Amino acid sequence: MVGPSSQEFGTKLAKRMGLPLLAVTTTEFPDGEIKYKFDEKLDGLQVLLVQSTYPPADRHYMQLFLASHHMSQEGAKVHAVIPYLGYARQGKAFLPGEIVSLGIIAHLLRSVGVQRVSTVDMHSAEGLALFSMPVYSVSAIPGLAQYVRTQVKLDDPVAIAPDAGSVRRTEAFASLYGAKVIKLKKNRDRVTGRIKMEADKLPVKGKDCVIVDDVITTGGTVAASTELLKKSGARKVVSACVHAVLLGETYDKLIKAGVDEIIGTNTVPSRVSKVDATEPMAAYLRTIIAEK
Ligand code: R5P
Repeated sequence: MVGPSSQEFGTKLAKRMGLPLLAVTTTEFPDGEIKYKFDEKLDGLQVLLVQSTYPPADRHYMQLFLASHHMSQEGAKVHAVIPYLGYARQGKAFLPGEIVSLGIIAHLLRSVGVQRVSTVDMHSAEGLALFSMPVYSVSAIPGLAQYVRTQVKLDDPVAIAPDAGSVRRTEAFASLYGAKVIKLKKNRDRVTGRIKMEADKLPVKGKDCVIVDDVITTGGTVAASTELLKKSGARKVVSACVHAVLLGETYDKLIKAGVDEIIGTNTVPSRVSKVDATEPMAAYLRTIIAEK
């Protein structure tokens, strides 16, 4: 079933895998509440429910919960394919008293009958441990590296990890690209959310740089990294991220900060969805189907 937030992704995924689309009529009340009418028998079906939970995350989760609960009640086995898994950044309590939102999301998914979850580049690998059902995160990093290598004109680029959490991904990107990695030290004020980079200069004079990250939301991380790179003499700065959430004016803010190009995938539909993440997802799903 192609959920309302993932029309393009879900249709592409089904086509790539040669799967039929479930007949569902979706209507929306004037207040934004959604209503589904399932137009075929669900008993005994194995359904991939494709629904990304980018902002508004709560609404997109609710749309997923309603569909999953109904389908599982009617006897279908539901495998949720959630290209961008919202709340994944709150996979632990960073300050005393904070809640582990991702753990609650995992619990809710189970309670509405989801039996398996697949996603793309989940924020942190530790988050996977919060799920009590099989969960897997495929990576779109090879696709991003391939895109940058073939479509963006760069001269011997350096891969930039903007913070500790992005090092693993950036190293994977760099190894596919044959680039060196520079790790930045980012400090985020856990109360205000404000970002500070811990360096005055970096060894990037005259170099092309690719900042690799899982998600861009407000653009604070990429903007601060770009300003530091440009101040250090970088020639070009490209931002490659999996989930380009790009809230509000973020795209313009990044261009103003000196980013020459932003490259994202289609886990979140946006003006920078240049890489198709249905490819690694389909490859993974085929392995599960082959196991059965
Ligand atoms: C942080 O751990 C993430 O990997 C991203 O760097 C961060 O969430 C991006 O957020 P923003 O665009 O608001 O800086």
